[in-house]
Amino acid sequence: MLSKFYLTTPIYYVNDIPHIGHAYTTVAADVLARYKRLKGFDVLFLTGTDEHGQKVETAATEAGTTPKELADKVVVRFQDLWKVLNISNDDFIRTTEDRHKKAVNEIWNLVKEAGDIFLGEYEDWYCTPCETFVTELQLVEGKCPDCHRPVDKLKEESYFFRLSAYGDKLLKHIEENPGFISPNVRRNEITSFLKEGLRDLSVSRTTFDWGIHVPDDTKHVMYVWFDALTNYLSATGFPEEGYEKYWPADLHIIGKDILRFHTLYWPSFLMSAGLALPEKVFAHGWWTVEGKKMSKSVGNVVDPFKVVEEYGADQFRYFLMREVPFGGDGDFSIESLKSRINGELANDLGNLLQRTVSMIEKYNDGVVPGCEGTLCGVNDPPLSDIFVTLSGAYPAHMDSLEFSKALSSTWEAIRELNGYVERCAPWTLAKEGDTERLGKVLHNLADGLRLVALYVYPFMPATAQEMWDRLGIDKKIEDANFEAEVDTEDYTPVDGNIVKPGAPMIPRLD
Ligand code: MSP
Repeated sequence: MLSKFYLTTPIYYVNDIPHIGHAYTTVAADVLARYKRLKGFDVLFLTGTDEHGQKVETAATEAGTTPKELADKVVVRFQDLWKVLNISNDDFIRTTEDRHKKAVNEIWNLVKEAGDIFLGEYEDWYCTPCETFVTELQLVEGKCPDCHRPVDKLKEESYFFRLSAYGDKLLKHIEENPGFISPNVRRNEITSFLKEGLRDLSVSRTTFDWGIHVPDDTKHVMYVWFDALTNYLSATGFPEEGYEKYWPADLHIIGKDILRFHTLYWPSFLMSAGLALPEKVFAHGWWTVEGKKMSKSVGNVVDPFKVVEEYGADQFRYFLMREVPFGGDGDFSIESLKSRINGELANDLGNLLQRTVSMIEKYNDGVVPGCEGTLCGVNDPPLSDIFVTLSGAYPAHMDSLEFSKALSSTWEAIRELNGYVERCAPWTLAKEGDTERLGKVLHNLADGLRLVALYVYPFMPATAQEMWDRLGIDKKIEDANFEAEVDTEDYTPVDGNIVKPGAPMIPRLD
């Protein structure tokens, strides 16, 4: 039976249109989903939208529309962006869907039956943009410690979740499962926070209406995070039978700003309900734009639609994954995007393919030279050594979500192939009439590029397919199997293929 791999992105708020931060999380998840499928996993890759809560209600009122109408409009922007970015999500969940409401009601009831929900009165500072209560102590100059915007004092009847009972259990879980929170810096952040003790959590509101109502007490609307986090379960079909085919999730990819919700609240709700915890939560860093925090008021919000239109989806995906080690913060600038496109994509990769295909055209009538016996696959040391190293390094990096390292290892092989062209000088071999050596060199280049395409595929799916097409490989690269392709016995051969020349695959920018 195939192993399953269930991975998720956060569900995005519909009070805002998509920007580079949203694109980042989803692209990273897509890269991993595509890689896991190559490795033969039965992948469930989920993304979606977070449509309830006061924030959405307020945005709708400001726009003179209803929250549902606003959600219906904005959700299309997200879905369109995922198409444009070639995102291969298997499902898209909206928190206004019935399947989700059903799951939320069920988990509420389970938590209540466990004795972890009680009625009380809540009074504290509330930050509406962050949808979170803040204690007096946490305020920074009287404002929200996260977004620095003004907070309001709120007092209301509220249901509480007995979060205080879960501190020790969470600590134990984190200690016993060191991979539960990644990277390490985030695990340490949560452990220190936990050591200070947890307060019970207000999980319902009565001052607005846009949300899922508390069963049996409908003047209360559930706290938007109780509602939102449950999306990860809803998409598995919970509470219907069979939901355990994919649950528990193998990986929640999130931004570092929503770490506490995912590593304190979410596992506590699940423990209380008697459900299995996700295997891993990975929090990535934040993007600034040309050194500044991205914000509407500064006017520097990067529109991913525009970037894709101007520079291409694969180029943008490559940049996001290559520029910053996953987990750290990064800075976006058009300058650095262009420099990576021209250097690594157009020059190193695009040129190599172009040269290889045209040399095969010129010196062997467009037919990839064959190989015999031990000559099969990339077989000419030291070139072949680098592919052996890559076949071990790449999966190790991908499995630990070190996307930029996976790419830099791949680029070492690309540079080695370029060096091979220079060293072997096929034009001289042709002139000297050394057809045997020439054939071997051209074969190695084509086969090296077949492998490079495989490694590039999760990051740049369209480019990788184009590479196979030009090498005359009549197969969808998404249907390839990683092990078979890197294995010298069982790969898709390039021998005898007719190459397809074309315009530069990745054009240089001025
Ligand atoms: N709706 C909640 C998530 C609920 S998950 C059960 C939410 N939505 S969001 O739309 O505000 O943000 C979604 C993701 O975008 C977060 O992971 C956040 O970290 C990410 N980003 C938002 N701005 C970002 C940057 N400037 N840089 C990188 N990612 C950032 O939070």
